[in-house]
Amino acid sequence: MGKTFYIETFGCQMNVHDSEKMSGTLKSEGYSEADNPEDADLIVFNTCSIREKAEQKFFSRLGRFKLLKKRNPRLKIAIAGCIAQQEGDKILHRTPYIDFVLGPQNIHLIGKLVTMRSHVVSCEENPLIAKANYRIDRKDHIKALVTIMYGCNNFCSYCVVPYTRGHEKSRPSTNILAEIEGLVREGFKEVTLLGQNVNSYRSDLDFTGLLRNINEIEGLERIRFVTSHPKDLSDDLIAAMHDLEKVCEHIHLPLQSGSSRVLKLMNRHYSFTGYMKKIESLRRAIPSIAITTDIIAGFPQEREEDHEWTIRALKEFEYDGIFAFNYSPRPGTKAATLTDHVDDAVKSRRLGEILDLQNSITDRKNKDLEGTIQEILLETETAGENTSLLTGRTRTNKIVNIPADGKAGPSDVVSVKIIKAKRHSFQGKII
Ligand code: SAH
Ligand code: SF4
Ligand code: F3S
Repeated sequence: MGKTFYIETFGCQMNVHDSEKMSGTLKSEGYSEADNPEDADLIVFNTCSIREKAEQKFFSRLGRFKLLKKRNPRLKIAIAGCIAQQEGDKILHRTPYIDFVLGPQNIHLIGKLVTMRSHVVSCEENPLIAKANYRIDRKDHIKALVTIMYGCNNFCSYCVVPYTRGHEKSRPSTNILAEIEGLVREGFKEVTLLGQNVNSYRSDLDFTGLLRNINEIEGLERIRFVTSHPKDLSDDLIAAMHDLEKVCEHIHLPLQSGSSRVLKLMNRHYSFTGYMKKIESLRRAIPSIAITTDIIAGFPQEREEDHEWTIRALKEFEYDGIFAFNYSPRPGTKAATLTDHVDDAVKSRRLGEILDLQNSITDRKNKDLEGTIQEILLETETAGENTSLLTGRTRTNKIVNIPADGKAGPSDVVSVKIIKAKRHSFQGKII
């Protein structure tokens, strides 16, 4: 019997994709994947430290694995991802039954770990990361995540990412294009380009140059990208989104706060008005564009009038969807050292107001889509009692469930009439 591994992933799409890279690396070293942690010789936790709650969730889950290790002395446990990078060898003191700690820039070492002695910590900055070509074990066969850049240089005052993922490094465009061409040969239809701030991608090409080249790849249907920083969203990118038929009509453009005063404290480098102008340009160029955002409620020194600016922004910008969370102080960040933190009860009240308002906006916007015709890329088919159900997404990234018609199936692009809107999905009919 060969060795087996099990990976549990927390956090964002970067981590989801890093897990695909670790899985691919382990398989190339002769490992096979176990169906559950009890059967594995190596368990990898790919962790997230963006908010305190994310970190707590992981540590409470980890506690249960101490017992598993007692039962199976051969078992090795590795902590990867952003908590690994931030905590380093402190994790080994806190939880001595951990064998390996490796940061996001060192995941290529995962295959070699077994040959190393236990209690290894690998959290160095990896200057060669942008040149690496990983073996990637993708679970999906229609949509693929593709890294275009690593790290972040922005140092938003609340955020751990620049500390956990290191400095910005862009992959050579030739490597990215070759990877996507390979994916298309395997039958993939959609790529999501990944970076903490894709608009600052820079190799021999800038981000719009990269998009223009990817758009030329025959057989590829759709191009998406996350995340765009408002300060770097250029007219050039907006023009490219308009021109390039494969680039989908959706942008995730994190606002964080509607108050220019708070935005300054957050080190975001744009104001309410500056952001509003970007939204206007986007909607002028691409009228059907869906816009989503991230909001932080109760940043230090946020006053009631600042919160009102966020409420005003939500009303004015009418997002298609938002991710909103209470501010969480993170060790090592500038914001954590600010005075006048907002009480938890106040944060939660403000967050509740933000979410309630957005729900009413989402419901109304979704209702408006009833009766429209949408282009859907079908992703999955699930057997039901009488007929099976197809699920896919609009170009604007909305999930649509459709009764199968016996002809179309996953990976097909179909025209669908939207019959009924719900909050997080739609029902449609192939026409
Ligand atoms: N690079 C992306 C997103 C990174 S993290 C960007 O710049 O938008 C994803 C989201 O988590 C952020 O947009 C922010 O809204 C939220 N976030 C980050 N740090 C946080 C903190 N300390 N407390 C609460 N939310 C936070
Ligand atoms: Fe964090 Fe700001 Fe970088 Fe996004 S741009 S990862 S919020 S520091
Ligand atoms: Fe992602 Fe969490 Fe790290 S959001 S970049 S896994 S801190």
